[in-house]
Amino acid sequence: MASVQTLSHVYPIGSRIDGDGRLQIGGCDVVELAERFGTPAYVVAEDDLRARARAFIDAFRAAGHEDFEVVFASKAFPATAVMALFAQEGLGCDVASAGELHLALRAGFDAAKLVLHGNARDDAELQAALDVRVGHIVVDSGDDIDRLERLTAGLGANPQPVLLRITPGVSGHTHEKISTGQADSKFGVGLAEAPGAIARLQGLPGLELRGLHFHLGSQLFTLETFRDGIAAIAPLGDFPVYNLGGGLGVAYTDEQQPPAIEDYVAALVETTREQLGAGKRLLIEPGRSLVANGGVTIYRVVGVKRNVSTWVSVDGGMSDNLRPMLYGARYEADIADRLGGSSRVHLTGKHCESGDVLIRDVMLDDPRPGDVVVVPVTGAYGYAMANNYNGVPRAPVIFASDGEARVVVRRETLDDLHARDV
Ligand code: LLP
Repeated sequence: MASVQTLSHVYPIGSRIDGDGRLQIGGCDVVELAERFGTPAYVVAEDDLRARARAFIDAFRAAGHEDFEVVFASKAFPATAVMALFAQEGLGCDVASAGELHLALRAGFDAAKLVLHGNARDDAELQAALDVRVGHIVVDSGDDIDRLERLTAGLGANPQPVLLRITPGVSGHTHEKISTGQADSKFGVGLAEAPGAIARLQGLPGLELRGLHFHLGSQLFTLETFRDGIAAIAPLGDFPVYNLGGGLGVAYTDEQQPPAIEDYVAALVETTREQLGAGKRLLIEPGRSLVANGGVTIYRVVGVKRNVSTWVSVDGGMSDNLRPMLYGARYEADIADRLGGSSRVHLTGKHCESGDVLIRDVMLDDPRPGDVVVVPVTGAYGYAMANNYNGVPRAPVIFASDGEARVVVRRETLDDLHARDV
C-alpha cells in the first residue's frame, strides 16, 4: 500500500499525483509514457527547464543587475533539443570541446553567445572556435596562450575576445572528483601565475583579454564558497567581464535544501559589486541547476530477488546513470503508480558488475516485475555520461509538456551499436 501521497520537491516543477495515485510529469501519466516509449527513458518536463532558465534571468533583474549573461553549461545535458530550448530562452552556451561547439551551433545558438572551455584543446579545437568567432575562449594555461598567439597572429584588427581561467585556491565542499577551484587542480592558472598570464595576453594583438573566469566545483551548497572565490580574484586587476562559472547544487533527495537560484544570484551580484566594483558584465554557467530536477528516468522492474537483501533489478543502470558508481551519488525512487512504500530494497541495474546499483536501501511499495520505477533528478549528467556498457543501447529523451509527450532523441538501435565498424 502506498503510504506517501505528497510528492517530494525533487520532482520536476508541475509534477503531480493524480486521483488514482499515479505520477504525472509534464501532465503525462508516467506508466503510459513507459508503455508508449519503452524503458529505460529519460523524461524531461520542458516547462521545468524553461522556468529555471527564467528564474536565473529574473534573479539578475531582481538584484538590480542588467548587464549579465546566463550561459548553459551544455555538458550537463548535451541533447540538441535541450540546448535549443535554452537558446530560445535567450541563454548563452558553455561548450567544452569541438563536439559541444558543433552541437551548440546546430541547436541554434549564435556563435557570439558561446564560451569555449577546456584544459586540453589542440590547434584544431581552438581553430574551430576561432572560425565561427565564439563570444569568448577561456584560456586555461600558458600552452593555450602559445597556441592562440600562433592561431590569431593575423587577427589584429578584429581580435578574439578571451577570458583567463583562474584557479583561486578556493575549494568547494563537494565530491573531490567535481571540485575544481583548489590550487592543486588541472584547470586554470593559479593566483601566483595569473599576473604573468594577464600581461602576456594583454600584449597579444590577436586577442582581447576581456576578463577573468573561475569555476569552483559542482554541486555546491555554500554561497560563502562563491563569495570567497570572488574575493580571491579581486586583486588581479580591474576587468569589464567576470565569468563566475557554474556549480550551484540541487536537491537529489527530499531532505536536501540547496540555495535558491534567487539567493545564489543575489549573493554573486552583491559580492561582485563589493569586491570588483559596479558596472561589470557578469556571466554565470549553470549546468546542473538548470536541468537536474527537470528530468527523471523511468525503468521497468525485471526481477525481484531475495537473499540477505531484496534486489530489485531494472532494465537500465550504469549505462544511463553513472553517477551512483562514479560519485556514490544518492537518489530517490518511486513506483510510478504506487508512490512511497515500506519495502527496503536495493534498486539495481542490469550490468555485469556488482557495483551497478542505482540506489541502496530505497523504500518502495512492494515492487514486482513489470512495475514502472521512476528515479527523479537525472536531468543532469545522466544522458551526458551515458554509455553502451554490455551492449545496452542508449535511452531516448522524451519531452513532456501540457499532457503531450514527444521523442526528441530516439532510442539507440542494435544496429547503432556497430554503426562505426569499418
Ligand atoms: N562551467 C565549467 C567551466 C564547468 O567545468 C562546469 C562543470 C560547469 C560550468 C557547470 O557546473 P554545474 O553548474 O553543472 O555544477 N559529471 C559530474 C559534474 C562535472 C561538472 C564539470 N564541470 C556530475 O555528474 O556530478
